[in-house]
Amino acid sequence: MDYKPRTRDNDKRYLMSSKISNFIPYGKQTIDEDDISHFIETLQSDFLTTGIKVSEFEQKIYEISNAKYCVSVSNGTAALHLSALALLNEGDKVLTTPNSFIATANSILYAQATPIFIDICEDGSIDLNLCEEALKKDKSIKAIFAVSFSGKILDQAKLRYLKDTYNIKILEDNAHTIGVKLTHSDISTFSFHPVKHIATGEGGAIVTNDKLLYEKIKMLRNHGQDDKHQMLELGFNYRLSDISCTLGLSQIKKLNKFTQKRQNIAKKYDEAFLNTIIKPLYKYTTNSFYHIYVVTVDFSKLDISRDKLFSQMRAKNIGLQVHYKPINKQPYYKNLNYGNESTPIMDKYFEQCFSLPCFPLLTSDEQEYVITTLKDILL
Ligand SMILES: Cc1ncc(COP(=O)(O)O)c(C=O)c1O
Repeated sequence: MDYKPRTRDNDKRYLMSSKISNFIPYGKQTIDEDDISHFIETLQSDFLTTGIKVSEFEQKIYEISNAKYCVSVSNGTAALHLSALALLNEGDKVLTTPNSFIATANSILYAQATPIFIDICEDGSIDLNLCEEALKKDKSIKAIFAVSFSGKILDQAKLRYLKDTYNIKILEDNAHTIGVKLTHSDISTFSFHPVKHIATGEGGAIVTNDKLLYEKIKMLRNHGQDDKHQMLELGFNYRLSDISCTLGLSQIKKLNKFTQKRQNIAKKYDEAFLNTIIKPLYKYTTNSFYHIYVVTVDFSKLDISRDKLFSQMRAKNIGLQVHYKPINKQPYYKNLNYGNESTPIMDKYFEQCFSLPCFPLLTSDEQEYVITTLKDILL
């Protein structure tokens, strides 16, 4: 098809971009002139860090999450780290998903606790029924660290049931969503990495309704000091700067627009792949924020491997990605004797999955180009 790459001349959104590339990645940030002018204002102000922008940003995050408290931190991994330290004790057993970025399970290890990997459902998220089976068998399990994989909101009713019935802590790693209401979980964490829903460069946040958790996490973020600069715990410098928070404040105004765009892209992919061997991970739903758009293809029935598909798409300037290699099968985890759990759905999913470009700046022409190129290669 007639695909015209964006250039400085034909697309004014690229005016601000210092690097122009025809490559279509699986995800990227949307930064406009408004973001840049706010950014400059903060650079010219008195506070580059620990200023008013931090509390303004935190307020926005707890408001959109319908939560009482928010602590901003330097990235999503720091958010998980501090949450794990606040929620867990050494040796605690924690159910978690193999289908996530490594940081989710790593945070359990940071707290000297023990991750237990549970298989996933067909939609890529942790199977909460299997979690219940595990909780029934082992009463010493203390928590679930779940991920709203790809941006699809976790089953809140089931989480609440598990929390109330088994008296466990629940952490939702919401790095793939933002704007999800905190209902019953103890903590929800976010990432503001550029491929996520809003970008602050690096950045993350924790929201909770529990004042004690909030105070503990706030203290751990700032070297373990209280408001009187007394060091009470061994903490960290995980603060997010005013520069980053300014960008976050500007980005968050556009969140609904960004989400709408991602959902439109997902809907169009769903329609394009209808009745083909390219299977959307789940049927289009407004219950997903579509951080990533994942499909599965049974490569065992084709002449082409996934690696070959990736290189052929890359040759056409399209980036695909695998989300995720099972965490329990990562070399580090194998050295800790993980990797032999029974996770048949995850294993099959990992063989077949890949993510297609999905981000607010993806144009209709570009999406058409991705669809046609993929179909040309696979169908
Ligand atoms: C599910 C999940 N959790 C945590 C993180 C870590 O976030 P960050 O990159 O901001 O440290 C990511 C980032 O990729 C993620 O996808």
